[in-house]
Amino acid sequence: MKNKRINLAPGTLEAPIPPAMVTVGDFENANVLTIAWTGILATQPPRTYISVRPSRHSYGILKERGEFVINLPSVSLARSVDFVGIYTGAKMDKFERCGLTKQRSDKVAPPTIAECPIALECRVAEVLPMGTHDVFIADIVGVSCHDSLLDAEGKLHFERADLLAYAHGEYYSLGEVVGRFGFSTDKPKKAAKPEKNTEKFTKILESKSEKSEKKPFYESAPKGRSVKRKPTDKNKGAPHGKRSVKK
Ligand SMILES: Cc1cc2nc3c(=O)[nH]c(=O)nc-3n(C[C@H](O)[C@H](O)[C@H](O)COP(=O)(O)O)c2cc1C
Repeated sequence: MKNKRINLAPGTLEAPIPPAMVTVGDFENANVLTIAWTGILATQPPRTYISVRPSRHSYGILKERGEFVINLPSVSLARSVDFVGIYTGAKMDKFERCGLTKQRSDKVAPPTIAECPIALECRVAEVLPMGTHDVFIADIVGVSCHDSLLDAEGKLHFERADLLAYAHGEYYSLGEVVGRFGFSTDKPKKAAKPEKNTEKFTKILESKSEKSEKKPFYESAPKGRSVKRKPTDKNKGAPHGKRSVKK
């Protein structure tokens, strides 16, 4: 059945987005708040932003210190994510209340949350007033993850992080992987035709499918489409975003 399109009031309906646990301050005097207005701005230099209301306790700390960590929570942390996004750190230690563990970050003063599988350490480059919120544009100066997300070759498996998503007031889990970068350009596998000499035909098909499975996706991309990743032994066949990471 064809859907009828309804016009709604202009609003912030982009979804799903990450409900990040953002840490500010320094190790001893840290605070954490939930930020859903966040995203990537550029690949090189790697840049992100968080959008923060000036009324937040964290806002002054951010302005003064110019550093923060985006801690990406897994589904098991949903209750803590909600809690640190409701209560202010002006009146309590939210780490203690939620049983969150502070870990020293590599490049910035605010701590990383040990329970979060992925963390982006950020240094503020610019602050832009944007209406209700101010946008803190920042360079991503460090990235860390749980070692359980890496395989023996150092390839990052995001699906193991079981990341939490947020959409219009509700928390979700991500569900299944339904494709990988560039999969729409894969050549469809040929269906087996009935053949008299079945044994011979099966052998040909097997060797063809072995070849196509081994082929990295960027080699089967249509002509004219540039794929910047260099095939190395480590990341052969890895989809965009699945990086090889040095342990
Ligand atoms: C799911 C969720 C998303 C939120 N996203 C933002 C956001 O993007 N920007 C913001 O300023 N506040 C956001 N908040 C509200 C702050 O996290 C909340 O006001 C928090 O208590 C501020 O903490 P603080 O006073 O300790 O800084 C969000 C809250 C929740 C629950």
